[in-house]
Amino acid sequence: MSDEPSLEPLSAAGRGPTFASIVTRRLSRRALLRDTVLSGLTIYLPRVFHGAPAPAESRLAFGHVGSTTGDTMAVADGHTATVLLRWGDPVVPGAPPWTPSAQTAAAQAQQFGYNCDYVGFLPLPRGSESSQRALLVVNHEYTNPELMFEGYVGGAPTADQVAVQLAALGLSIVEVERGADGWRVIGDSPFNRRITGTTPCTLTGPAAGHPLLATGADPAGRTVAGTFANCSSGRTPWGTVLSAEENFHDAFGGRAGLRPLSDDLLNHARTGIATGRSKWSWERHEPRFDVSRHPHEPYRFGWVVEVDPYDPTWVPRKRTALGRMRREAANSVVASGGQLALYSGDDIAFEYIYKFVTRQRFDPRDRRANRDLLDDGTLFTARFNANGTGDWLPLVHGVGPLTAANGFPSQAEVCIHTLKAADLVGATKMDRPEDIEIAPDGTVYVALTKNPLRGTAGQPPPDDANPRPLNKHGHVIEIFEAGNDHAGRRFRWRLFLVCGDPRDPDTYFAGYPAAQGLSRISCPDNLAFDHAGNLWIATDGQPETFGINDGLFVVPTEGPERGRVRRFFSAVAGAEVTGHAFTPDDAALFLSIQHPGEGSDLSAPSSRFPDRALPPRPSVLVLEHVERRPIGSAAPAAGATVTPTG
Ligand code: FEO
Ligand code: CA
Ligand code: CA
Repeated sequence: MSDEPSLEPLSAAGRGPTFASIVTRRLSRRALLRDTVLSGLTIYLPRVFHGAPAPAESRLAFGHVGSTTGDTMAVADGHTATVLLRWGDPVVPGAPPWTPSAQTAAAQAQQFGYNCDYVGFLPLPRGSESSQRALLVVNHEYTNPELMFEGYVGGAPTADQVAVQLAALGLSIVEVERGADGWRVIGDSPFNRRITGTTPCTLTGPAAGHPLLATGADPAGRTVAGTFANCSSGRTPWGTVLSAEENFHDAFGGRAGLRPLSDDLLNHARTGIATGRSKWSWERHEPRFDVSRHPHEPYRFGWVVEVDPYDPTWVPRKRTALGRMRREAANSVVASGGQLALYSGDDIAFEYIYKFVTRQRFDPRDRRANRDLLDDGTLFTARFNANGTGDWLPLVHGVGPLTAANGFPSQAEVCIHTLKAADLVGATKMDRPEDIEIAPDGTVYVALTKNPLRGTAGQPPPDDANPRPLNKHGHVIEIFEAGNDHAGRRFRWRLFLVCGDPRDPDTYFAGYPAAQGLSRISCPDNLAFDHAGNLWIATDGQPETFGINDGLFVVPTEGPERGRVRRFFSAVAGAEVTGHAFTPDDAALFLSIQHPGEGSDLSAPSSRFPDRALPPRPSVLVLEHVERRPIGSAAPAAGATVTPTG
């Protein structure tokens, strides 16, 4: 297959209003530098501006992969894609075999969960850079009961079905090893563990013990039953995983039963809790999900959950200092002053981007000293200014409008009602922030997946950072922290990609010419950098926008190929690609195939992934080059002998 992809047919539906007036002034290097001078802001500029050679360009020599439709997967020539973990596979040593016709919560709580999302590769032994042995930490975001259970009745699950779903969420921690024949799960590893929708988690930080977090089952407001809706996440430099609780509101219903204009009713309206039946209908059998009966239970979700995969006895911590939202991403970087800076977003249309900076410094020599680092620090939300600058606005009790008179008598309320606090300080309403990743050079990349409501009647109009009306394809923004200090309060920003078909005039690929070969891309979601600094983007939504399956793409962020987006992998029907994670040597890439077959049910399933059998099973794959070279390398020449190096 040619290294230069031929363009795919342009969908008429891909056209939209032009947005040139906003975008052109945000795109040019000249404008960025001019704005920098005008603002007096010292910023860090990536190497592309200094004309240095890009070290990564020779790595990406694979042939572009065409899109797929239906239940067909494709990976770049010279690479393999192997199923490593499926929904239902044993995780805890001694777990019973998966029996889809007779699922139980007790069995599921020992087996790999549903809808794998985030994948963390944490080398073993801890502190090493091993690319051969590791703990995989995998989130399980939500369930598709119509694809799990024969005869499932929408909106009316049985008690057993609810219990199985709660057991299928949370996280799986699994030891894996690369042997001569490939990657395998170590079935009897003492690290193997499940955390589910009922596993006790400890609340810590400013809101722990607050009366709003107290319930009949937990009057102290410090111990929550479980974690769910865990989406794109991150890890700390001390080797823990930060699991982000995203669309927790889908579990709750019954808001109409709360007293009119009561605080609880207004708070739960702000986070999107249903007035009547919840999206998941668990409250039919689990009363804690009915807010008319248990109005405080939702305050106990929407947090970052810190998990220590290296210590199975350590109780997961919900870190309230980081705020409460429908959180996507929890990626961090050590700032120049030694504090940890952590980036997140709220993945709902017109919601905000956040940063948390610890008060204390990270100590690379003493793991225990970092144990509670995330309980004390400053939470910020982002304002993107029209001149290309930006401000991190503090969400701190007593600062600006965050006073008792406005409903924030202490920092605990700021942490619990983070969305309302961000409303008050004037954060910028974004086009659905998904993953946020920090490049090796310190630049922060934000995926804004889409927002077709942008500019429609009664909704916010386009702005400089969200320039496209009816934004159905999404975009990617670069943030340059002032002085490359991730603990600071000012930044500059720039559009990197405005996604869609590259021949469409309302797209932008960092200036890379469409005629030189670009893949169309829509709905950017999960992001990851390989160790050469290339950005890998997974998508979630291409079946709706292009009528093709979602996939995994790579784009250099520096050098002559900056902006050249190419498809590397295409997933199966109904699935999104999530959680991609590289080994330290880049020779293996793990990724999740989440919700294969979504949009159908077991009466007419669109997917039988991965085993050509039913039910379809969300799975983690491992991708490798056939010669064990870094992912994205050229395929072996035709006729060459391929000798895996073991
Ligand atoms: Fe779970 Fe925003 O994706
Ligand atoms: Ca996501
Ligand atoms: Ca998504």
